[in-house]
Amino acid sequence: MPTTMIPAKVIEDAVSLACRAPSYFNAQPWCWIVEGGELHLFVEADRVVATDYGSRQALISCGAALDHLRVAMAAAGYEAHVDYYPNPGNHKHVASISFSPMSFVTEGHRRRADAIMSRRTDRLPFAPAADWDEFELMMRKAIYADVSAVDVISDQDRSELAETSALTDALRLYDSAYHAEMQRWTAPYEVSDGIPQSALVSAAESDRVDVGRSFPVTNDGERRVQLGDDRSTILVVSALDDVRRDVLGCGETLSAVLLEATVAGLATCTLTHMTEFAATRDIVAAITGRPLPQVLVRVGMAPALDEVPPSTPRRPVSEVLHFDVG
Ligand SMILES: Cc1cc2nc3c(=O)[nH]c(=O)nc-3n(C[C@H](O)[C@H](O)[C@H](O)COP(=O)(O)O)c2cc1C
Repeated sequence: MPTTMIPAKVIEDAVSLACRAPSYFNAQPWCWIVEGGELHLFVEADRVVATDYGSRQALISCGAALDHLRVAMAAAGYEAHVDYYPNPGNHKHVASISFSPMSFVTEGHRRRADAIMSRRTDRLPFAPAADWDEFELMMRKAIYADVSAVDVISDQDRSELAETSALTDALRLYDSAYHAEMQRWTAPYEVSDGIPQSALVSAAESDRVDVGRSFPVTNDGERRVQLGDDRSTILVVSALDDVRRDVLGCGETLSAVLLEATVAGLATCTLTHMTEFAATRDIVAAITGRPLPQVLVRVGMAPALDEVPPSTPRRPVSEVLHFDVG
């Protein structure tokens, strides 16, 4: 196992970029510790959303942060070597990461790292993605195919998915615990976590997106009117096996999909509302023919001249990264 010592500043910058990863309700349920030349990633139990039973969404979020870390370190000139679940007695310890110097940092490595800063979860309608075949080719090269699979929803199956999305809302109508969590994570305060108002959409905008989670709506007007209804392509990321390692891997694949899409100039929106319930998850599974769907992604085009909303907040790196010098 390589044990290259990395300057603290490089680690700090890379972790800071890794924490730009998407997370469920922007809860950022992760914690990083540097010890003995290795960087360790943990799920932070206190930050798992109360209604995330089984911590599945937290695990997907940590997987996304892990892939973001790889991308950030590659742009800094280091290859990451990941040991998954290195401590069988502690399933919160999801990875130990060591590094070795890379022979060359390519333009591709830099573009992917730049995409971390420009990516956003976009909940507005999209125009159809341009150059889909080229994007799909690049995306398939980037995903973690040993633990996850990505399927593209066909036009015929799209309407069933939209019905399933609506069914999720109906199933949640009387779920007080879920709605309380939603209120908590979308409360309009200036904080370092949660989903800010600027990332949410109005009722009229939400009505034009047939596959999406119902968040509290804003009083803003209607953007992207010229696009009409959403015409995104929807991807489903499924785990190959029902084990933590593969769910984490779906998070890594989610990151790879989002960053490749961003590099290709495409807009994205991550979705798990349909995979959180057994009933609706089973419908998604029947559509893809894979039993373990974990996360969906809407992919499409946002108008080039659109005003870009501010990026969502993150906890300061000093809160999430610790150097164990003892
Ligand atoms: C596991 C997971 C599940 C998510 N589920 C949804 C969802 O159902 N609907 C949605 O609009 N965004 C969803 N998101 C996106 C997060 O809300 C978003 O990543 C977070 O608020 C940070 O914002 P950003 O992605 O713009 O940086 C999810 C993200 C992750 C990682």
